[in-house]
Amino acid sequence: MSEQASMVAVVTGGAGGIGRALALRLAADGWAVGVLDRDADGSAATCDAVREAGGHAVASPADITSEDEVRAAFASLREQLGPPNLLVNNAGWDVFGFFKDSDAATWDKLIAINYRGMLLCTHAALEDLRAAGDRGRIINVSSDAGRVGSSGEAVYAGCKAAIIGFSKSLARELARDLVTVNVVCPGPTDTTLLASVGESEYGAKVVAGLKRAIPFGRLGQPEDVAGAVAFLASAEARFITGQVVSVSGGLTMAG
Ligand SMILES: NC(=O)c1ccc[n+]([C@@H]2O[C@H](COP(=O)([O-])OP(=O)(O)OC[C@H]3O[C@@H](n4cnc5c(N)ncnc54)[C@H](O)[C@@H]3O)[C@@H](O)[C@H]2O)c1
Repeated sequence: MSEQASMVAVVTGGAGGIGRALALRLAADGWAVGVLDRDADGSAATCDAVREAGGHAVASPADITSEDEVRAAFASLREQLGPPNLLVNNAGWDVFGFFKDSDAATWDKLIAINYRGMLLCTHAALEDLRAAGDRGRIINVSSDAGRVGSSGEAVYAGCKAAIIGFSKSLARELARDLVTVNVVCPGPTDTTLLASVGESEYGAKVVAGLKRAIPFGRLGQPEDVAGAVAFLASAEARFITGQVVSVSGGLTMAG
């Protein structure tokens, strides 16, 4: 990928799980990576792992629900790495339970992290991404839950569906700048987030059922998602925008 002139990426939620795999893969592809996560220790560990693998990564810990923290983190990463031309909105959070048993405080938290936080990060990076022209990329990590629904994750799935609608709309707004906006939807993927879903008896049954239903017969690994993101980030993907890619071993094939 030597043709890429500007290669500065910001990965939110890069302290663990899928985000850590994204940081490692993008760095291996030559991107300088800014890790933005509320987990400072995990962020530092990701940066260490990237450096051990010969790449370049720096962290600026922030909670994506705080506009002030998000703005400060993007300013700090910009100072350390230069203006980003790739933003991967990957940070997310879920709590498993039926909607009838949930409360408004939980909805607010789910929306603040999974939807509003993504808006704040996108807005903070937008002018730099637009300035990058046809090397500008936004990749939003949604979920198959947002495409096909998921029992026990109604509000989370609603946020993930909102990400898809937002991304398609922003893809249209940014087309004149040649900036692409795409969505990657992991299916069940082997991370602490999935493990937390499987903590309850019902959640464990759901996860086991999903695993059985995956045509490829296994859970996704964070690296599976990283491959799709790396492609959409590359110059090769310059004419792909407003698209939604499921990385699920064939679990969902609709639309
Ligand atoms: N694991 C799955 O099965 C699965 C399936 C579909 C979609 N996803 C999505 O993939 C993305 C990554 O999930 P994961 O499985 O790696 O989860 P994870 O819990 O392993 O990692 C999520 C990361 O986001 C960070 N984060 C959470 N809230 C934050 C906040 N307010 N501010 C800053 N950082 C915050 C966490 O510290 C963590 O490092 C999420 O958007 C998730 O919804 C995961």
